[in-house]
Amino acid sequence: MTLSRTSGTRLVALLGDPVRHSLSPTFQNAAFHAAELDAIYVALRCDAADVPGLIAGLARAGGAGNVTVPHKRVAARAVERATAAVERTGACNTFWLESGVVCGDNTDVVGFGRAVEDLLGGPPRGARVLLIGAGGAAGAALCSLLDEQAEEVLILNRTHAKARALAERFAGSTTRIHIAEDLEASDAGNFDLAVNATSLGLRPDDPLPMEIDARVTADAVLDMVYSPRRTRWVREHLARGTRASDGLEMLLHQGAAAFERWWGIPAPIPVMRAALPPR
Ligand code: ATR
Repeated sequence: MTLSRTSGTRLVALLGDPVRHSLSPTFQNAAFHAAELDAIYVALRCDAADVPGLIAGLARAGGAGNVTVPHKRVAARAVERATAAVERTGACNTFWLESGVVCGDNTDVVGFGRAVEDLLGGPPRGARVLLIGAGGAAGAALCSLLDEQAEEVLILNRTHAKARALAERFAGSTTRIHIAEDLEASDAGNFDLAVNATSLGLRPDDPLPMEIDARVTADAVLDMVYSPRRTRWVREHLARGTRASDGLEMLLHQGAAAFERWWGIPAPIPVMRAALPPR
């Protein structure tokens, strides 16, 4: 692929630790090329202490960027103008400059929403959702589920105090949010959607986020973890005939939304999808 390199080339950077295996440079550079933008996307491993300076420096030098684990919270505090998604989740994954102001958004929220819509064939309005996990990924998922007016979200997390804190952060919406301390004991029944928002599945020998048994069932399963062969949780659900997808679509859609913040034009989603590993 030939990308233009001129004195006007704009630098877009992913800030995180680690960043070595990120797919963002691959599909963003493909998108920049297709849209004929004089810009290049690079991944920069960096420490938390350097994130505020990098965000301000890149944005003010005509660039922009993304932020990934573990720096999204630091980034949320570093931007000068935050979207509602950043305020509500306390996390920022996209930054750019607008009228001299360093702006930040959390496009994981819209990325999650589009991945859910693809999976269910429509938004999760009125859905009963099991959300496993209570960290940053779970916060983005919950924010989107509330926006889409899911009827009920049951949060299940290894550390109950973190599940409670997440529910409290989003209290006051029309969606009913509950905490499950023990799914077996809670008689939870059937869900329209189950979401893995833990980091389980990143390593091949990880246990499943939730055992697949008859007491708790889901019509569809979304794993926010991405793995080249799909996660075991997704593979096992697919083998049982349950609709399931992993974090690749969410990654694509958060990237497409970031592209639109930076450039103000629609993202070439088919080009970006074609640049992802084949399934
Ligand atoms: P992220 O930003 O990717 O969501 P995070 O904020 O560190 O990362 O959250 C990680 C999530 O995975 C948490 O819900 C965590 O559970 P705890 O709150 O109990 O730490 C969950 N998680 C990580 N390792 C886990 C494991 N071995 N078993 C169960 N849950 C795990």
